[in-house]
Amino acid sequence: MSDKRLAVVTGAARGIGRAIVLALLKQGRTVVGLDLNAEQLRQLETVAKEAGYSVITRCVDITNDVKLTETLDGLADEFGGVGILVNNAGITRDKLMMQMDADDYDKLMAVNLRAAFMATKTVLRSMVRNKFGRIINISSVAGVMGQAGSANYAASKAGLIGMTKSIAREVGKKNITANCIAPGFIQTEMTDVLPQQVKDAAMEVIPVKRMGTVTDVARAVAFLAEDESGYITGQVLCVDGGMAM
Ligand code: NAI
Repeated sequence: MSDKRLAVVTGAARGIGRAIVLALLKQGRTVVGLDLNAEQLRQLETVAKEAGYSVITRCVDITNDVKLTETLDGLADEFGGVGILVNNAGITRDKLMMQMDADDYDKLMAVNLRAAFMATKTVLRSMVRNKFGRIINISSVAGVMGQAGSANYAASKAGLIGMTKSIAREVGKKNITANCIAPGFIQTEMTDVLPQQVKDAAMEVIPVKRMGTVTDVARAVAFLAEDESGYITGQVLCVDGGMAM
């Protein structure tokens, strides 16, 4: 039964999202990847095909409430509900607090927190009906520890943690779990752009002395997505080489 559950991953086209899609496909699930980058979604389809799988993709800007909810409701109708939701899409707009303007804050919050709220609210309807759900929110160690130059980002990721714990309390009795993964310093296009001195400084505080890989994060998501992980809820699992302990 578990492999029949539909999994939806936001920000699926590249980086951590793409690895999550592949990990869930390997579990034998039907997976839908949402992203606003049509070209990279096509690349995801190719990568999945080369690995022997087939992924369903939808080009959606998740900050568009109408488009997001229509897409999720349509998928729930077509597949009999959404079983697993991974709110992975996220952006950065890094600046020191005194230079950060309200627009940097609002745009980031719309993707990192508000869209996760809208997506979760939408899929909960079929999860409650089916008495099964796995909500997995990709937070960050920045939301646990704070991060200089990223006050907006850290606030969104800490917000995700609070939202996740609240959902876990609300719908636990319906066999729906909600957990956060808090990745540390993971090698993706998001971190490729960071200056070398920032990467060197990060190495100083990572006990395992390496950057994480996208598969390090994806395997934790796949674990929480399993039917057998139903007694784990409201947790923040740091996948960070020991950075935030
Ligand atoms: P990435 O920038 O490589 O990928 C993010 C994906 O989200 C992209 O495909 C992008 O097109 C999509 N996206 C952005 N805005 C969207 C929107 N409005 N609608 C639909 N799709 C949208 O990022 P990466 O590194 O793979 O990060 C994934 C998640 O992991 C993010 O939430 C990020 O904050 C989090 N994270 C990443 C860490 C890292 O070191 N890379 C560390 C901690 C957390």
